Amino acid sequence: MCIYGGTTCAVIASNNPEVVVTVVDLNAERIKAWSSDELPIYEPGLLHLVKKARDGARRNLFFSKSISSAIIEADLIFMCVNTPTKQTGPGAGQALELDYLEGAIRRIAEVAQNDKIIVEKSTVPCRTAETIREILDTTGRPGVKFSVLSNPEFLAAGTAIADLLQPDRVLIGCSKTPDGYSAAGALADVYAAWMPRDRIITINLFSAELTKLAANALLAQRISSINSLSAICEATGADIEEVTYACGLDSRIGPSMFKASVGFGGSCFKKDILSLCYISEFLGLAEVSAYWKSVIDINEYQKDKFTSRIVSCLGNTVTKKKLAVLGFTFKKDTDDTRESAAISVVSRLVAEGAHVSIYDPCAKTDQIWRDIGTYVTVCESAYEACMNAQAVIILTEWDEFNNRVTTDAQRSSDRLRGPQPGFVNLIRSKLDWPLVADIMCPPKYVFDGRNVVDAGKLEELGFRVECVGKPS
Ligand code: UGA
Repeated sequence: MCIYGGTTCAVIASNNPEVVVTVVDLNAERIKAWSSDELPIYEPGLLHLVKKARDGARRNLFFSKSISSAIIEADLIFMCVNTPTKQTGPGAGQALELDYLEGAIRRIAEVAQNDKIIVEKSTVPCRTAETIREILDTTGRPGVKFSVLSNPEFLAAGTAIADLLQPDRVLIGCSKTPDGYSAAGALADVYAAWMPRDRIITINLFSAELTKLAANALLAQRISSINSLSAICEATGADIEEVTYACGLDSRIGPSMFKASVGFGGSCFKKDILSLCYISEFLGLAEVSAYWKSVIDINEYQKDKFTSRIVSCLGNTVTKKKLAVLGFTFKKDTDDTRESAAISVVSRLVAEGAHVSIYDPCAKTDQIWRDIGTYVTVCESAYEACMNAQAVIILTEWDEFNNRVTTDAQRSSDRLRGPQPGFVNLIRSKLDWPLVADIMCPPKYVFDGRNVVDAGKLEELGFRVECVGKPS
């Protein structure tokens, strides 16, 4: 099960009290965690929601290792297995690994005793539903009928619950047959428990599969586009925040997913674009593949450029210099570090001989060490990380790092966030920047990879501030 499968199921269960939802996984440890108060992921509001459906008076959310019996009992099965990038064989480094998905489908074919609706939630290449149907039709028991739907997930880490409760749309891909429409109708009923019907869209099966890859590619492309412009800003004296604000006011462009940064991360954008590149190449569309690959190339360039700026500002060498890194996760409000920009930036600084101390409110120390090795110090507090450091490097936009006025939206997000057992209590106060100034060593640089600080205010405290897309 992909870690967000449990989140989706918790939302479905809490909105459909009459439906029994059983979440199964081959990984017994993960099921144990989902059954406890220390969930396997940190997601604001998730524990509260899980506890309500799992432990409340009208329990209808169950976590189990008994995969076969859960399959036998289910009418509708969501396939939420991981589809990471392939590491070996044809398409290695680009194509999606469908091994786990295929294993799960074969298991369903083997044990299902009555008709089932199979819902593809995992991100898959276009036309995977056809392969799934072939496996089910050729290996399933005679007389058992399977309907395959595509129902891609659009939730983002850190806002998963809100994204599930108020999505822009729910997409259901089905084959254009009476059976297909009837299966799509059954799935639509599950969502209609909390969503207006007009936001539940039914389209062709393969269009739905491609939409998932396309949506992520387009979102990542916006970030790479704005990041490429940030480089021009740094060289000319234009300010990327002013440029994005002014461009975003054009309703055809819009303001969201448009913030320049040290580079995008996470388990989805890079993986899904690489998959799109692979599909394009497979179809003989080399130019299309090169076009999407450039979105990833700009992202790599952005991370590298940010790191080079740090080295250059610090006199072209960071050897033996203490540098404090604030934030390691790929975005705020998650404990996920996969493909985080911090991994690239810190790895290069360490390779250049810097002594790096890292503080992140949510990332686990073991995970940071797995990501970049034990050459770095992982700190319990931002102050410990900043003590005697020559520079502070902000790599995740956690609210506590900014020195701007706290908005109502932030306050309510803070309330939603914590505390969750097993994770550090996330309701914490803003960083005391005057104190940070006192405990650091000259030249007291702040490299803001997320443009979260008010540079003017920090400069008044004696910091030298470098932001993305703004001249030095
Ligand atoms: C992304 C998509 O936004 C979801 O719609 C999708 O469902 C999900 O992938 C998925 O396929 O599972 P996610 O990767 O969780 O969600 O997070 P995003 O909010 O998209 O952020 C991705 C990266 O882009 C982060 O590193 C973030 O800091 C960065 N970012 C985001 C920017 O640099 N600038 C922005 O304006 C927005």
